[in-house]
Amino acid sequence: MTKFLIAFTAVFVGASAQNATNRFPDNFMFGAATAAYQIEGAWNEDGKGESIQDYFFHNYPEYTTGDTGDVACDSYHRYQEDVQMLKALNADVYRFSISWPRVLPTGDVDVINQPGIDYYNNLINELLANGIQPVVTMYHFDLPQALQYIGGWPNEMLADYFVQYARILFQNFGDRVKWWITFNEPAVFVNGYAAEGIAPSQPASGIGDYLATHTVIKAHARVWHLYDEEFRASQNGSVGITLNMDGLEPASNTEGENDASERARQFQMGIFAHPIYTEEGDYPLVVQQLVDDNSAREGRNHSRLPKFTQEEIEYIRGSADFLGMNHYSTNFVTPGLIGESPSKSRDSGVYTMPGGHYAWGLRNQLNWVATEYPGYPIFITENGLSNSGGLNDTDRIDYFTEYLGAVLEAINTDGVPVIGYTAWSLMDNFEWNSGYTVKFGLYEVDFNSTNRTRTPKDSASFMAEVFSSKQLPDQYSL
Ligand code: GAL
Repeated sequence: MTKFLIAFTAVFVGASAQNATNRFPDNFMFGAATAAYQIEGAWNEDGKGESIQDYFFHNYPEYTTGDTGDVACDSYHRYQEDVQMLKALNADVYRFSISWPRVLPTGDVDVINQPGIDYYNNLINELLANGIQPVVTMYHFDLPQALQYIGGWPNEMLADYFVQYARILFQNFGDRVKWWITFNEPAVFVNGYAAEGIAPSQPASGIGDYLATHTVIKAHARVWHLYDEEFRASQNGSVGITLNMDGLEPASNTEGENDASERARQFQMGIFAHPIYTEEGDYPLVVQQLVDDNSAREGRNHSRLPKFTQEEIEYIRGSADFLGMNHYSTNFVTPGLIGESPSKSRDSGVYTMPGGHYAWGLRNQLNWVATEYPGYPIFITENGLSNSGGLNDTDRIDYFTEYLGAVLEAINTDGVPVIGYTAWSLMDNFEWNSGYTVKFGLYEVDFNSTNRTRTPKDSASFMAEVFSSKQLPDQYSL
C-alpha cells in the first residue's frame, strides 16, 4: 500500500510539473480578432461615411483582385452569429475594430451617426451577455475619406480629429470596454503615403510615411493622456497600440547581419515603440542618424524625419498601459541598399529576404520586445496562417500548436509577460489586396451564399479546447 502511494505520488508530481510548462496563466486572455472593413460590409448603409478603403477598392482595381469589402462577411447584420461562434470557441475576449466613418461619417464630430453607435453598442452588449470581453481597435486602416481629402495622416491636424473620435468612443462605450487599442499596425498603413497600391495610394516615399508616423505617434499619446486624465478613474481600462512585429532575424551570425537585424527592428517597430515604451523616448537613435544623414546628403536643409520637441518626447514616453503585437512569420535580413531613393527601406540599409513560419522567431521576438521595452504587458493581438481554404485545416492546427508552444516557452521559461492572444482570424474575411482568395479563418465563410454561411473548421475545435483548458493538448507538451 505504502509502495503504491509513493509510486502514485511520483507519477502525480511528474505530471503536474510537466503541465506547469504546458499551461498558460489562469488569467491569460484567449480569443480571436477581426477588423471592421474586412468583415462588416454595409459600406454605405445607415449613414456610414466613405472610408479610404471603400475609395481605394472601388477606384483602384488594378492593384487588387477587383473584390471589395462592400458586403464582406456581412457582420453588420450578422454580428449575433459572430458572437455565438466566439462562444463556441470558449473565447475570453473578442478583438474587433470600430469603423471611424460608421460613427463619424465626415471624420469630424459635426455628424454623429447614431445607427453606427447603436451597432457597436449591440455588439458589445451581445459579447458581454455571452461572457466575452471586448478588445477594441479604434483604427484598423479605415480613415474617413473626408480626412484624406485634407491630406490624411501626414497632416498633423489629423491628431486633433482622432482625439475627438476617441473621446466619442470612450463616452459611448468605455463603461463596458476595458481594452482599447488606438492603432493597428501603423508601420503597414503609413506605407499608403509611401507607395501606390495600398490605401490611400499616395506615393511620397521616404517623406509621407515619416510625416504620417509622426502624426500617428502624437495622436496615440494624446488619446492615452485623454483616457488617463478624464476616463481612467471611472472606467478603469487599459489603452495600448498594436505594432506589427514579424521576426527580422540575421541571415547568418556575422556582425554585419546582426547589426542589420537590429536596424530592421528599429526601423519597423522601434520607430513607433521607442518613443512610447522606452525610458529615453524619441525615435531610435539609429533611425534619427540614418534619416538625418541621408537627408543632408540629398541636399535637403531639413531631415525627412520630423523632430519631436523635448516637451513632446516627455509627453509621449510612457503613454501606454500595454503593448499589442501582431506576428505571423520570420524573415531574414542582410545589409543592403534596396528600394527607391528616398525610402524607409533605403534609409534602413537592410535587405529583407522572405522567410517562413518559424515559431522560434516569435519566441525571439517576444524576448527582444521584453528586453527593449521592459515593464509592459504584451498582448499578442494577431497571429495566424492563411491557406486556400477547406474545413480540414491541419496546417492551421500545426501552425497554432507551434506558435502557441513558442508563446508558452516565452512565458514559462523566459518570463516574458504575455497576457493575451487573439488568433487572426475568427472567420475568413476580406484580405485586403488578396480579396477573398486567401483564408485565415477558424470559421469558413461561404461568400457565394447570400447569408454568408459560417462553418467551423477543424482548427475551431482545436482552439476551443486550448481556450477552455488554457493549455496545449498533452501530446504537445514542451
Ligand atoms: C495584418 C492586418 C490584418 C490582416 C492580417 C493578415 O497585417 O492587421 O488586417 O489582414 O495582417 O494578413
